[in-house]
Amino acid sequence: MCGIVGYVGERKAAPILLSGLSKLEYRGYDSAGIAVYEKDRLQVIKTKGRLKALSDMIDGGKNMSSTMGIGHTRWATHGEPNDINSHPHLSQSSEIAVVHNGIIENYISLKEFLVEKGVKFLSETDTEVIAQLIEYNYRGDIVEAVMETLKDLKGSYALGVISRHNPEMFIAARKDSPLIIGAGKNENFIASDIPAILEYTRDIYILEDKEVAVLTKDSIKIYNEYGQMVNKKIFHVDWDVDAAEKGGFEHFMMKEIFEEPKVVKDTFNSRINGDLLKQDSLSFTAEQLNKIEKIFIVACGTAYHAGIVGKYLIEDLSGIPVETDVASEFRYRNPIINEKCLTIIISQSGETIDTLFALREAKSRGSKILSIVNVVGSSIARESDSVIYTLAGPEIAVASTKAYNTQLAALYTIALDFANKKNRINSEELKEKINTLKEIPGQIEKVLEKREGIQKFAANHYNAKSVFFIGRGLDYALAMEGSLKLKEISYIHSEAYAGGELKHGTIALIEKGTLVLCSVTQDALIEKMVSNIREVKSRGAVVMAITQEKNKLVESVADTVINIPDISSMFAPLTAATVMQLFAYYMSVLKGCDVDKPRNLAKSVTVE
Ligand code: G6P
Repeated sequence: MCGIVGYVGERKAAPILLSGLSKLEYRGYDSAGIAVYEKDRLQVIKTKGRLKALSDMIDGGKNMSSTMGIGHTRWATHGEPNDINSHPHLSQSSEIAVVHNGIIENYISLKEFLVEKGVKFLSETDTEVIAQLIEYNYRGDIVEAVMETLKDLKGSYALGVISRHNPEMFIAARKDSPLIIGAGKNENFIASDIPAILEYTRDIYILEDKEVAVLTKDSIKIYNEYGQMVNKKIFHVDWDVDAAEKGGFEHFMMKEIFEEPKVVKDTFNSRINGDLLKQDSLSFTAEQLNKIEKIFIVACGTAYHAGIVGKYLIEDLSGIPVETDVASEFRYRNPIINEKCLTIIISQSGETIDTLFALREAKSRGSKILSIVNVVGSSIARESDSVIYTLAGPEIAVASTKAYNTQLAALYTIALDFANKKNRINSEELKEKINTLKEIPGQIEKVLEKREGIQKFAANHYNAKSVFFIGRGLDYALAMEGSLKLKEISYIHSEAYAGGELKHGTIALIEKGTLVLCSVTQDALIEKMVSNIREVKSRGAVVMAITQEKNKLVESVADTVINIPDISSMFAPLTAATVMQLFAYYMSVLKGCDVDKPRNLAKSVTVE
């Protein structure tokens, strides 16, 4: 996820680009850059770090006279965040500059093709390939060169392209990554999101997949992928700026929950090729895996809860014993860990100090480190032997939602990879499971459609003083995250219990009206959970159950049922998690809490 802005008009472009980018920093903030047409050439200024560093470098852009340019704020996916990997990227002759949001999946083969033709690359990014390919395809018509290039790109993109040959115009294109066009008077804009240009215009065209737009200061021409002109309706924005930054959602948390289908799909796509798991230099060989006797999964908070799901999956699928640990405990408990162990470190930020020190502890004892991290180039990523990046993009709300779902997504692919290499599943079973994974983004969308039922339930119970979450197996792992989400943002006391453990003490707390949330998605454990529901119901509890549509037995005992689509037990957490997150969200909103910035919490905890 990155932010793009483009301007062509009569005013100085650089200050407008910087101001637009400042509204998009929520989309990425590890580096920033602009390209403008200045003194008969394309001038690119870019730097690692926050936008302020760029703005300081060019003194707010006020001394640059160009009236056309593109800008970018980056959230690294390919190549660490440094000056060279920052956007815009230039073609070899410096005649074409490109900003890009998205992932070009076939960039390696395109790069190999271009290198063979003698093209020299500077960065590690997938984006530079686009700039070089446009130049390779350029025969005097820049629009044609861009159209030709787009045909060869696989993956997702929102693009802004400028060329020294045509300083009066720029080109924009999109597929699976957002891009809008702002129509002004004697000036036009592009941006990844509406807030970036709201100061200048409220008349917007939403670019659709595979459309290409050519903008000059007084014209906007939009073409479909076949080069035919498209007539589009203007969308007039009447939101205020604050709402616009959240994409029209009231809170970042809800916006981020709604991004789950996309980011889970992106994370799967980075690990799956067709119906096979991708193998690259970071993947473990069967021989390496066979030497591993034990796996430790170490993390904090939400990432730790993802790790518990990972434990169930990896043990079940690959047969390798897995121990999970809270990072702050692991560091000081003298863990029995050596070179025959693999440590999986999970962290959204990649900077949590307890997690980082746990990593160092495991490493110093000889363990190999595989990390699952969201922030490219973060400390944890840098110190690991291998890194799987979750492609959740920046998460702004303190309570983690989409990052958790992508951590689960990564763990499923790891568990399947290990199972495959340990010959615990055959190729048919592997394909079947991978195909099930691919259905998950669509199923999360279906869960989002059911949000009203969850909101209604929350509306009747937001005054609850205490809530219990119960489940068995993977549902227990999920219950822990559901409970944490509720505590974090609604300040309601809550506890997660294994369904079978409740009766060993905690059931004493259940009385008339106590709220119990039951996750019941594991086929082999449904009857057991139904008994647990009966136990709490007979003591007066009010029960909301999350279960697959097919489980009619659950409907007969729970007070409210939120159905997730029929999906096999193993994969249910990926959709049931979204229900838990929505429940916590609505409880928090109804209680009037500060959803995105709950009291006492920080997004990234870099102190012990
Ligand atoms: C903080 C956040 C949690 C997060 C935890 C681990 O406590 O408030 O939401 O789960 O840190 O963060 P990490 O960045 O390592 O995943």
